[in-house]
Amino acid sequence: MALLPILRYPDPRLHTRATKVAVVDAAIQRLAADMAETMYEAPGIGLAATQVNQHVQVIVIDVSEDRSRLLTLINPEILERSGECEGEEGCLSVPGIYETVARAERVRVRALGLDGQPFELAAEGMLAVCIQHEIDHLQGKVFVEYLSRLKQARIRSRLEKRSRITA
Ligand code: NI
Repeated sequence: MALLPILRYPDPRLHTRATKVAVVDAAIQRLAADMAETMYEAPGIGLAATQVNQHVQVIVIDVSEDRSRLLTLINPEILERSGECEGEEGCLSVPGIYETVARAERVRVRALGLDGQPFELAAEGMLAVCIQHEIDHLQGKVFVEYLSRLKQARIRSRLEKRSRITA
């Protein structure tokens, strides 16, 4: 396993649309394992392949307190959304920024697991929000794009300044 470098907003590669995984083979399983290690190390509760510059539809999530419930979703598709909720979100690609985003409160998702078999999952609360956030990444969307243009511009300039200092 290996830690993967995470792209930082406003890196334009974060706006790439990921393609569907054709076959869940050893390379995809390895990518998912490396992504999980990267997510736990960061630490974060979710990571999309887009964020590690791999543009295939793979996400890893673990919203459990003790980091024991790793969920890998390949080619995830939202079948149903219901309810509304607003909560503060952050993102490993937008470090230090937390903003309120409106999301569906519950989602039903279909995906392939690491074994290549399809399954469905009903999620609510933080897990539902996280799934929506990560699927957005696969579609090239970063959560700050839900904010006003003014806020986005402020976040961009703050992160650009920071990367000049740490680069
Ligand atoms: Ni994110």
